[in-house]
Amino acid sequence: MCGIVGYIGDKNSAPILINGLKRLEYRGYDSAGLGIIEEGTPRIVKAKGKVSVLENKVDSDGLHGEVGIGHTRWATHGIPNEINAHPHFSMSGKIMLVHNGIIENYSVLKEFLISKGYEFVSETDTEALVNLIDYYCKEECDLFEAVRKALLKVDGTYGIAVLSKDEPDKIVIAKNGSPLVIGLGEKENYIASDVNAIVEYTKRVIYLEDKEIGYITSNDYLIKTLDNHKLNKEVNEIDMDIDEITKSGYDHFMLKEIMEQPESLRNTMRGRTVLSEGIAKLGGLIGYEERLANSKRIIISACGTSWHAALVGEYLFENYAGIPVEVEYASEFRYRNPIIDKDDTVIFISQSGETADTLAALKEAKRKGALVLGIVNVVGSSIARASDAGVYIHAGPEIGVASTKAFTSQIMVLSLITLLLARMKNMSVVQGQEIIKAIEALPEKVEEILKHNELIKSVSAHFADAKNFLYLGRGIHFPVALEGALKLKEISYIHAEGYPAAEMKHGPIALIDENMPTVFIAPQDAVYEKVLGNIEEVKARDGKVLAIADENDTKIETLADYTLKIPRTHEMLMPILTVIPLQLMAYHIAVMKGLNVDQPRNLAKSVTVE
Ligand code: F6R
Repeated sequence: MCGIVGYIGDKNSAPILINGLKRLEYRGYDSAGLGIIEEGTPRIVKAKGKVSVLENKVDSDGLHGEVGIGHTRWATHGIPNEINAHPHFSMSGKIMLVHNGIIENYSVLKEFLISKGYEFVSETDTEALVNLIDYYCKEECDLFEAVRKALLKVDGTYGIAVLSKDEPDKIVIAKNGSPLVIGLGEKENYIASDVNAIVEYTKRVIYLEDKEIGYITSNDYLIKTLDNHKLNKEVNEIDMDIDEITKSGYDHFMLKEIMEQPESLRNTMRGRTVLSEGIAKLGGLIGYEERLANSKRIIISACGTSWHAALVGEYLFENYAGIPVEVEYASEFRYRNPIIDKDDTVIFISQSGETADTLAALKEAKRKGALVLGIVNVVGSSIARASDAGVYIHAGPEIGVASTKAFTSQIMVLSLITLLLARMKNMSVVQGQEIIKAIEALPEKVEEILKHNELIKSVSAHFADAKNFLYLGRGIHFPVALEGALKLKEISYIHAEGYPAAEMKHGPIALIDENMPTVFIAPQDAVYEKVLGNIEEVKARDGKVLAIADENDTKIETLADYTLKIPRTHEMLMPILTVIPLQLMAYHIAVMKGLNVDQPRNLAKSVTVE
């Protein structure tokens, strides 16, 4: 978490950095700061709270200079306040630094520095690093070398940018475990945690890898390994438009991203099916299809919403391709010495491609010889680059902290992989064609649901004051129940639990009364009648029921208090439709409660710390 940005060139850096920080705010938003060299003098302005608070301060301070670094924070060490906000000055006041990550051995470094006479003002781990750089800069200072020497003593993760009063013509940068990208301009260069921050200014970028260090000047750059070998890195052209990272007239990114789903799904599926043969064609898996299809077992690992998509994947791969699947939280997988052999395939799902737990789990699976595949949204992200092969979901930038369009596109990719595998196994061409037709028709069905936004909003109003919610679904809809509950929790701060509907009677039923609404995901599938039975059980205990049901279902309306209808599609794709009313309901309830939908408290979009 945390976002960093840097600029060096012939323009005033302050507005560029503020703009970049606004684009990175999804990574952290408890405090922010800018450090700029102003006519030879390093100056730092910081503010607690959002980047807009910092912006006002910078405007009134008149901060101005052609080189600068900025930071938006998600606190790890030290509470969110101005002192702990970045950039941090070294004690000498010569060097300033912004940092995304965690310096694990900071207390040892701090003790060493205190013994050398350094004094500390903040509670952060970062201050130990900036002072260590300062320490290596004592005599004849070469900033790049001082940073390199300091990093050789550091355990932990970092994406850093460092500025020195004595070398105001360069920004030194380094990466280990936190993302960092260089943007190349004309007589100006940029650095950022991700391309969103700089895409307005340049589309030519270089991704740094772990244990790489470098610098940018206004017309040059250098990248080396931490052990001092010069690297010639590829310059990538990014294919992203500024419209993709603005709200385009919507009140919130989350609503925009929910509404974008017909288009994001089209982008996910485009060119990836062949109707005549009833097959999926996934360029990112070419050369790996046989090994994947012959896997003894597939493990799917992820966190949060992506983990819910993984649960849908389990159902799809087992049901249609007959391959045993296990789903693991990446955070658990990485620490529990999982039994993996070379005949296993491990698939990692991540919107950001930067989630620290998922990346660490991926490295563990690779170390054990499994085929490692990524299902990732952010092109060029760490998980995408570390995978043996994979499939981009192409959902476009997702800025709202609550994941929406990434979830539906992840399920779309899992459905395409299922089709690929099932057709290599027992699925007939006709069955394959049925699935492709359903895939092609899906965006219009999503549009149908979105047209009922006002109805969903008015139904949501009946539930906005509830303190607790239960979400229930069976089979492929159980992960949707989990996802609906998570969406509500994260942006509305209402406690919600997802359960398999049949589990209700083993405990959660005790919670049901007139104040505890239950959301049933109840399309007419094989277990529909049983779900109706569960609804009766809730009604018998005075519980309020909202049902997500098929468009032709008239029976359920007689039981549930409120019903939201969805069109029918192939069973495999149903979760993509059933989740949409739940996304909208969470959104509307959060707005009704006056909460910050795009930046919910305590959360950040990209969890790059453990
Ligand atoms: C929920 C949400 C998180 C993420 C999780 C994994 O709305 O956004 O639960 O799904 O942090 O993130 P990625 O997919 O980027 O690895």
